[in-house]
Amino acid sequence: NTMSETSVPFFFGWFLSSSYQDKLRSMASDFLKILGNLDAFKKHIGDFSGDPEKGVDLEQYFSDKGVLHCTTKFCDYGKEQGAKEYMEKQEVCESYGRASELELTALFITPRTAGAQVSLSEAQLQLWPEDSEKEDLPRGSRAHVTLGCAEGVEPVQTGLDLLEIIAQKKQGEEGEKIQDLDLGALTYYGKGAWMLSLKEPIRAQSCFSSYYG
Ligand code: A2P
Repeated sequence: NTMSETSVPFFFGWFLSSSYQDKLRSMASDFLKILGNLDAFKKHIGDFSGDPEKGVDLEQYFSDKGVLHCTTKFCDYGKEQGAKEYMEKQEVCESYGRASELELTALFITPRTAGAQVSLSEAQLQLWPEDSEKEDLPRGSRAHVTLGCAEGVEPVQTGLDLLEIIAQKKQGEEGEKIQDLDLGALTYYGKGAWMLSLKEPIRAQSCFSSYYG
């Protein structure tokens, strides 16, 4: 089982099955509706350059970026460092095309991006690139599904926004507990960063594969 004959894709990742894409989108849309109407959110609306009287329609603020997935290795058709090596790794070859369950543990937004945090299993971490975090954070910290981006923002930003929240937590900045919503506890981390820890994580049926675009 070798992929040496295959050309290098745009990226590798776990792609959510269509029913879980629907489920996650509908959950995200509920969250954005509720969050956008909270007084606590309106108080910080300046982060989103909105009018405190009118609020922001968060569902319109973030535009959808296509099929929902969790990127493992961004390859850019081989231009990215380590792309070919990644593709030839035994774990990558063996897992290619296989089903896997992604555990989604939180939803978050910043003025740039909206995403879902992914908690990787030991087996899934085998497919995680060594250099993804580039910081003093546990491997896999960056794992996420991009749900949407603000105008002019590229999806690569979602993982960076997530890392920033995780780095803040690690430094002991617990954030401001806002309230418990039906879906879970809502925390504000400052500078427009909001995170909803899901009471019941979603276990989303996914497939490890690649995208050529
Ligand atoms: P993400 O994984 O955060 O969603 P684009 O749409 O910009 O062409 O990117 C395609 C996919 O590859 C997206 O899922 C995107 O971000 C991811 N991606 C783009 N650039 C990078 C990068 N430099 N490092 C890691 N992932 C990237």
